[in-house]
Amino acid sequence: MTVAAKAAKRQQAPGERTVSCPQPTALLGWYDRHRRTLPWRAAPGEARSDPYRVWLSEIMLQQTTVRTVAPYYRHFLARWPDVQALAAAPLDDILKAWAGLGYYARARNLHACARAVVERHAGKFPAGETELRALPGIGAYTAAAIAAIAFDAPASPVDGNIERVVARLFAVTAPLPAAKPELRRLARQLTPRYRAGDFAQAMMDLGATICTPKNPACALCPWNDACAARERGDQATLPRRIPKLEGDLRRGAAFVARRVDDCLLLRARPAKGLLGGMTEVPTTEWSKDFVDDDALEKAPCFAGKKRMMWRRIVGVVRHVFTHFPLELSVYAAGVPALTKAPAGTRWVPIAELGGEALPSLMRKVIAHALEK
Ligand code: ADE
Repeated sequence: MTVAAKAAKRQQAPGERTVSCPQPTALLGWYDRHRRTLPWRAAPGEARSDPYRVWLSEIMLQQTTVRTVAPYYRHFLARWPDVQALAAAPLDDILKAWAGLGYYARARNLHACARAVVERHAGKFPAGETELRALPGIGAYTAAAIAAIAFDAPASPVDGNIERVVARLFAVTAPLPAAKPELRRLARQLTPRYRAGDFAQAMMDLGATICTPKNPACALCPWNDACAARERGDQATLPRRIPKLEGDLRRGAAFVARRVDDCLLLRARPAKGLLGGMTEVPTTEWSKDFVDDDALEKAPCFAGKKRMMWRRIVGVVRHVFTHFPLELSVYAAGVPALTKAPAGTRWVPIAELGGEALPSLMRKVIAHALEK
């Protein structure tokens, strides 16, 4: 009996029917018939994808859906067709093109990684997971995905979708995150030495289209006769998780100053930290103990204008960051022509906001102020 079959058996209660061992060929056959057509994916029978394209797509796909990524991927590839072009681009252009994808550290790492590939590897992505992991922004998952998809190395990328597939296949009932090492180990055992890139992408497709979190389509699954959780009937409850404590709500105020010539007052966020280097309207600090009544003390001051008439816009703008939810009250004010921007800020025509590196949060704030 193979190790994978033993692992499947180990999870079963005495007297339960033994499921068959999951065969890579069954999954690969299903992939050949049902693979998704994705802009970064080589077509059936085509040579493997260029490592630059695989890397670019994998960085964009971190914490972001395939549907959101597709237009960004096409745009980046058209504008920066290879790693040399991306390495030579100004960071600000990359941040602007990234605006709306979120998790902006990825965009800064994208640039740093392109430079590192050019400087350390003469513009060629290394094939080994260890060398890939030494590059900025490439963690264990991304290194394994690039090694498998671009180089056909028998590497096993394991993200949340693949954890779910493996947890169900072997009925792993230990909760996440403690079960992660076990799930990675089982995923490695499943990975064949041939067609490893297709196998990795097949696991991704299975997790995204069949072995979904709720109501998995088990009848259509190429491994349904090998799935230990399906045999027990608890597949929809796996993987189990220890409930995560969400970060505390932070609150603050944002100030949208509009000059009569239809310019908005903007500034750059500090280069390091949350949304580092991105553009924003002036705001207060975002804190758990923010007091609405004190908000206007932090509003921008314009030379020669003692009292600004800030208008509080009804409602709040809500946004959820990885570590905390945020609620911003929005204040708006009209400012006369030729008013100078206070230090550290600048006027930007509303018609040109599309070219600014404004994160989604700030686009929501501005829309909220301009609509009301
Ligand atoms: N999610 C992460 N990487 C992916 C890929 N290469 N294809 C489809 N979905 C993915």
